Amino acid sequence: MRFSGKRAVVTGGASGIGRATALRLAEEGADVWIGDIDEAAGQDLAATSNGKISFRRCDVTEADDIRTLMEAADSAGGLDVLFNNAGAGGAPEKIDEISPEDWDRTQSLLLRSVALGIRYAAPLMAKRGGGAIVNTSSVSALGTGYAPTAYSTAKAGVLHLSKMAAADLAKINVRVNAVIPGFITTNIFTRHLEVPEEQRERANQIIAQVAAKAQPVARAGRPEDIAAAVAYLLSDEAGFVTGTHLVVDGGITIGTRPSWDPEQPGLFAALESFL
Ligand code: NAI
Repeated sequence: MRFSGKRAVVTGGASGIGRATALRLAEEGADVWIGDIDEAAGQDLAATSNGKISFRRCDVTEADDIRTLMEAADSAGGLDVLFNNAGAGGAPEKIDEISPEDWDRTQSLLLRSVALGIRYAAPLMAKRGGGAIVNTSSVSALGTGYAPTAYSTAKAGVLHLSKMAAADLAKINVRVNAVIPGFITTNIFTRHLEVPEEQRERANQIIAQVAAKAQPVARAGRPEDIAAAVAYLLSDEAGFVTGTHLVVDGGITIGTRPSWDPEQPGLFAALESFL
């Protein structure tokens, strides 16, 4: 019960990583406000939470929506912890093809939203004597090949913003960290597809199969894996942790799994079988 008596805000809390984190924080005692554009899923989650989770429609590309979400938690007794997490895949084009508008839209959704979340939450946390913030970055902030350019650049921005904000806000006792998820099976990969539900389900199954083999740890990443890391970073147990990031990726950033997977033999095993 690390969040007993605390109030939390989670953006993108209606699905995937945000939903799992809202549930985890509520389980550990927090009263949680989730903000999302998916009203049906957000209200469903709130309805089954025994009053621990409240939903507010919040489009994180709108500054006023973010501000009023933070104020909702504050007016119920004070905002203690924030998970800036809402997001989507962003513009898929490469840098020599992307339009200025698509670039701006992606940065607004993934980077400006996080900056504004911190902007509006920090003064409210200061009134309480401090607080903690976690921002969702991505393995795509650390290298190429994971996600499109506009998305990856925004996520790298989130990583650096977390450090800058940690330095700015230490004086008011607000800690800021980032979480770096690897390949996590959520709806993010199929949400944008305009296909019948059946086909979306099939696509989700294929993604789950690929996810199970994408990294050294021999299973797919789950939203709950990230929720556990976020709960730690938001809790007082991480009281001396600020301006850094926690990579939760099943080892995807250290490489593939040729050392033990016969289906991915790696260079030397491939050479051996050839000779
Ligand atoms: P998801 O699609 O399951 O959840 C994202 C949530 O954000 C949805 O409920 C969606 O309605 C909401 N959302 C989208 N645009 C919004 C907006 N303008 N305002 C408010 N809410 C909005 O996806 P997932 O995977 O849980 O994504 C959560 C975060 O994790 C995102 O920032 C994503 O970029 C990041 N991430 C996900 C990874 C993965 O493999 N699933 C890997 C690395 C990072």
